Amino acid sequence: KKASIGVTGLAVMGRNLARNLARHGHTVALHNRSEARTRELVEQFGHEGEFIPTYSAQEFVDALDRPRQIVIMVKAGAPTDAVIDEFAPLLEKGDVIVDAGNAHFADTRRREAALREQGLHFVGTGVSGGEEGALHGPSIMPGGSVESYQSLGPLFEDISAKVDGVPCCTHIGPDGAGHFVKMVHNGIEYADMQLIAESFDLLRGALGYEPARIAEVFKTWNTGRLDSYLIEITAEVLKHTDAATGKPFVDIVTDQAEQKGTGRWTVQIGLDLGVPISGIAEAVFARSLSGSADLRKASRGLPGPARKALSGAEAESFADDVERALYASKIVAYAQGFNQIQAGGAEYGWDIDLGAVAKIWRGGCIIRAKFLDDVTAAFAAEPKLPTLLTSGDFRKAVEDAQDSWRSVVATAVKLGIPTPGFSTALAYYDALRAERLPAALVQGQRDFFGAHTYRRVDREGSFHTEWATDERAEHSA
Ligand code: 6PG
Repeated sequence: KKASIGVTGLAVMGRNLARNLARHGHTVALHNRSEARTRELVEQFGHEGEFIPTYSAQEFVDALDRPRQIVIMVKAGAPTDAVIDEFAPLLEKGDVIVDAGNAHFADTRRREAALREQGLHFVGTGVSGGEEGALHGPSIMPGGSVESYQSLGPLFEDISAKVDGVPCCTHIGPDGAGHFVKMVHNGIEYADMQLIAESFDLLRGALGYEPARIAEVFKTWNTGRLDSYLIEITAEVLKHTDAATGKPFVDIVTDQAEQKGTGRWTVQIGLDLGVPISGIAEAVFARSLSGSADLRKASRGLPGPARKALSGAEAESFADDVERALYASKIVAYAQGFNQIQAGGAEYGWDIDLGAVAKIWRGGCIIRAKFLDDVTAAFAAEPKLPTLLTSGDFRKAVEDAQDSWRSVVATAVKLGIPTPGFSTALAYYDALRAERLPAALVQGQRDFFGAHTYRRVDREGSFHTEWATDERAEHSA
């Protein structure tokens, strides 16, 4: 019997995907650069399903049913190219190579185009949910051809997470669409994490709560509209005590957030596409700032207000205010992320169904949340929705959050608690709803120093003012 799918690259993500497939009754061919990992998998987990261990590229390819489906789960970049170069020559027309790593979508587009020339399908696939997700049901975001999804789709839907019986897997669009959407998922993940971290800092700084008490606040929030995996694990992290010192775990961890690159890519591409994803950008910058050890050291002792606990009515309502501000800022972050997917879709000619994306993010992935039910509904009702902010329930939520959102940001400013995520979300919101923006003045400045021209509100065409003359004459440019 041949395998219906093969996995090469058996580090923890690849291993867990292979086990997930086997546990669902699919025969899985296994391959890894070093043989030990392959043997180990079969020894430890062979009883979970049908595996065909192989120890050479040719043996691996020969073990597969046609069209062959090979899942590559190796490091993004050069290692991925190396594996593709190894297997592509051994494959035949119609075979499918899946890259399930966190590749840059531009690399995926390049690889897809090259392999299409050889008659092969290349499917860049986002997989979210970490190690546990890979084993028990991730959210899966495959790109590539419609044809490839015919054979691959049923397998992937089978092993994906399910919400209300609906698989968290859908064909996103051609070539790099899947990896693009996974990239934006990660950008949103960064923004979500940053907003939650700021909420913690606010509750501690303005109320003087200990981490364990804040964990309880998050637990309560997790029973409401903020119900999500990230809030849930935040409560777990906050209530954890370091065994060695007896201190709250969060206090013994170095306060420098690391990043592997997907958040940064999201911002880079956001800049290229001209999409204002300020919430995601601030989250990436917040990590960079935290990691700027020398800069922070040199700046310690700069003047500013001391953190002191609020009192009275302000203190009483503060946790609820933060909840509302967090929810409103979260809506902004998602609105920005979905706008980026719209912009990417338009730029690269992908017809991405935003409602379907929201739907497969409801389970399995890191940003899974109850909130995504409402996002799904919003795009189902209006597929071309210009921004989530104007959609029914979200509009109502930001309306209800107005006082809280503003007072939380004001309190943060007054106490000197940095809240780049909350602040930029509110600034974005106010800029969007403004009747007029000072961008008009920027245009005037550009025209003054560089004759860059401007457009008028009352007439078509572009204009330039002769700033140097006394009359300051205007003429069409
Ligand atoms: C996921 C995660 C996963 C990974 C992040 C972490 O969806 O399962 O997003 O892809 O944990 O890439 O990224 P950083 O190391 O950059 O925080």
